[in-house]
Amino acid sequence: MRVLVVGAGTMGHGIAEVCALTGHEVTLVDIKDEFLEKAMQKINWSLRKLAEKGKLKEKVEDVLSRIKTTTNLAEGAKNADFVIEAVVENTDVKKEVFKTLDENCRTEVILATNTSTIPITDIAEATNRADKVIGLHFFNPPTLIKLVEIIRGEKTSDETLQKTIEFAKSIGMEYVTVEKDVPGFLVNRINLRVFTEAIRLVEEGYKPEEVDAVSKYRLGLPMGILEVVDFSGVDVVYYVMNEVVKRGVNIRPSKLLEEMVNEGKLGMKVGKGFYEHKGIYHRVKIPKNLAYELNPIRLLAPAVNEAAWLLRNEVASKEDIDKAMTLGMGYPKGLLEMADDLGIDRIVKMLEFRKEETGLDEYEVDPLLREMVESNKLGKRSGEGFYRWKYERVEFGPVIYEKRHNYVVITMNRPKKLNSLNEEMWIGLNKAFLKAEEDKDVKAVIITGKGRAFCAGDDIAVMGSWQKFIDGKEFFEKVASPLIYTLMNYTKPVISLVNGYAFGGGMELNLFFDIIIASENASFAVPEGLIGAIPPIASTIGVAMVGRRFARYCLTGEQMDAEEAKQLALVDLVVPPDQLEIVGIEFADKISKLAPLSTKAIKSSMKSVKEVFRNSLEVGMREIMTLIPTEDFAEGMRSFVEKRKPEWRGL
Ligand code: NAI
Repeated sequence: MRVLVVGAGTMGHGIAEVCALTGHEVTLVDIKDEFLEKAMQKINWSLRKLAEKGKLKEKVEDVLSRIKTTTNLAEGAKNADFVIEAVVENTDVKKEVFKTLDENCRTEVILATNTSTIPITDIAEATNRADKVIGLHFFNPPTLIKLVEIIRGEKTSDETLQKTIEFAKSIGMEYVTVEKDVPGFLVNRINLRVFTEAIRLVEEGYKPEEVDAVSKYRLGLPMGILEVVDFSGVDVVYYVMNEVVKRGVNIRPSKLLEEMVNEGKLGMKVGKGFYEHKGIYHRVKIPKNLAYELNPIRLLAPAVNEAAWLLRNEVASKEDIDKAMTLGMGYPKGLLEMADDLGIDRIVKMLEFRKEETGLDEYEVDPLLREMVESNKLGKRSGEGFYRWKYERVEFGPVIYEKRHNYVVITMNRPKKLNSLNEEMWIGLNKAFLKAEEDKDVKAVIITGKGRAFCAGDDIAVMGSWQKFIDGKEFFEKVASPLIYTLMNYTKPVISLVNGYAFGGGMELNLFFDIIIASENASFAVPEGLIGAIPPIASTIGVAMVGRRFARYCLTGEQMDAEEAKQLALVDLVVPPDQLEIVGIEFADKISKLAPLSTKAIKSSMKSVKEVFRNSLEVGMREIMTLIPTEDFAEGMRSFVEKRKPEWRGL
């Protein structure tokens, strides 16, 4: 096919290169020879790079020989089979170009435009073939980003759409179809929501690094959002934003962007934008430890709302929305899939909160999202959101087992008793962990507690009922040990979300888990010695893992807050309470990317470490059993129930 590419700037030269690389004959047009020469130099450089990397199947010269250049548009148009226009973003210029194209191209030729902001329908008006005018929107650089948005103008025919799809495929591009000519099409519409929120956070006083740490390390985007703005050009984003706002998209324009444009802080190309850039390809450093200040839902909620608008208005399908954001913007998974991970109800809540906080009706919740929440389509959490997910919910006594597609959430649900470990809790937990272990879909297990406690430890009412060695022995053998050994031998990664008190056995269980995330208001203690018992896991495996510094807590029963626990490496991350669950979900997601056999092998290696201390653990268990018939134990239990000091403290 002979492809005519009009405009040899940033986009045009890349589009011409892509077309030539896939075997098409290309004519590249611009208004001056020097622009064409520059474009050919860039193409040459880029092809040589590809050849160096071994990515070119033929000689650079052979590809180059398929590109001709001319400054005579009418002439170039005469033998074109397909046209892609990529001239400056100016309606008058584009209309003029399209008029010339219409007059000189054969009648059946499709005229595609790469415009980002101008309605396809308006451009088509300059021609007598509005049915053959279509949007074909590439991303920068087209040689690397293998996606195009194909946009229907009001009069674009089905045939034109089909042929354009065939053409996109012929140049090796994936495509998404934008069924209506809406401002910003699909990707920019969603991007602008994300950019706006990121910029507003900076206006509120957050550092760009803080915003971008969330984007990179939690949302898993390849670059920080503000880094992308700097890369695209602050002026370009500002321009596109104003254009779509002019065309009726409801976004309050950003004062900060305007100031930055006026001050010449245009981003990477000038070395200064949201960041200082040392050179064009310099990547800014974004510290990971800043990632847990901000809730990632804040960044995504307006984007999901926009996607809901696109879906409800039948502009794009959910599959295309997700494809566009993954291929076009490098999202690790589709935006709507991310929404299903995070929870549609949480997204709605965030939008309502933002609307209340700012008074801006651009945060008005889309009816589609409302309807989803009303019909319990909350995402993976309820088995259906934008997509359907494998879901199962079972209760094992006070333990809730919830399978959410590829991970399980086990919740200790005895909030009035601070989720303390009575017989049903021990047994229920064991059943839940075993069930998750057996399910092939399950890549990770999350455990947490309902209410203000994670788990306040052994139920003293139960322990207080023991009188003889044999009572405790039976309990440990039949009730507690099965769970302890299930956890010791567990082959799936366990993420513990410590939402509040984790005392005694409740803290000790954590010593078997892999990733421990604590809410800021979590607290930990092993105070068993204060009531005549001992913490058998903490004083053995705990001391082995943490070291001597843990002895203090076993010997005093002192409480530690989440930060102290983190310093002892008992906790990996401390996060605000409202983010605890989503951080857990993020980790389950990270784990799900490992090869299943690798995860298993890592777990089994780690198990062998714990095995080394198995004898010690058994000593600990025996020690507690031998305490049962003693007066100290009986008095400890009595005093706890009677809420008084045990007698030995009076000595
Ligand atoms: P650019 O300014 O780098 O290139 C535009 C080129 O068009 C220039 O070389 C200019 O001399 C040429 N030109 C102007 N009038 C012409 C005419 N009458 N006939 C032939 N050539 C003419 O602009 P860029 O960034 O390449 O943008 C081009 C189009 O692509 C715009 O519609 C823009 O919205 C769109 N776009 C840009 C993206 C980007 O990241 N830069 C991404 C996707 C789309």
